[in-house]
Amino acid sequence: MKGGTNTQLRDKLIQLSQRVAELEPIATERKWAKGELKQSFEELRRSLEVTVHALASAVEMKDPQTAGHQRRVAQLSCAIAKEMGLSDEKMEGIRIAAMVHDVGKMNVPGEILNKSGSLNSMEFGLVKMHPQDGYNMLKQIKFPSPVAEIVLQHHERMDGSGYPKGLKGDDILLEARVLAVADVVEAMSSDRPYRPALGIDKAIEEIRKNKGKLYDPDVVAACLRVCSKEAKSKSVSQKRAGRRGS
Ligand SMILES: [Fe+2]
Repeated sequence: MKGGTNTQLRDKLIQLSQRVAELEPIATERKWAKGELKQSFEELRRSLEVTVHALASAVEMKDPQTAGHQRRVAQLSCAIAKEMGLSDEKMEGIRIAAMVHDVGKMNVPGEILNKSGSLNSMEFGLVKMHPQDGYNMLKQIKFPSPVAEIVLQHHERMDGSGYPKGLKGDDILLEARVLAVADVVEAMSSDRPYRPALGIDKAIEEIRKNKGKLYDPDVVAACLRVCSKEAKSKSVSQKRAGRRGS
């Protein structure tokens, strides 16, 4: 993925988000009196969505090992947010931020992202810049929620041991605390260039063990409920498939 294409995508997102932000108050004032206005607003929203997906694909093309990671994190984050009863607005912010949360990795050399061995401290230092780089790329885009800030904070941890700022507890946006848990669970459940998948049981053990220390306890509790519901529905469908097969 060439740098020019990334810049074009980001500029398109900025343009589209500005148009959505301009249209939104007018649209509300006129109460969608004109069908035309509603149509163009929805078209803009759709274009914004398509461009967010394009940006998500751009980083995944550079880092194929994590292809699909952002989409899966978005699904799990939204399931956690729903389980916690968060507002539609918060859920939408979490979904968009999750879709592009690793966009800053476009600035990390591919040979580091795809390295099979462990990273040295300089390489890890470069990887750790991705939340700040992602923030810098997204900050001019007028999303209805603080998407750039959520991306910036997705590696912060409750006890202040995260990065880039070492924020603690409630100083970390709730949306970022949700994203952090979903990111860890998804990353541990999937293969990485440097290790095979550790599996969902290990991921659950990690968040349980560090509940309140690294991860928000309410988010962890919601995530555990989501995972157990998923496991139950999987076993029901496996049993059904088994009965059909026998
Ligand atoms: Fe990340």
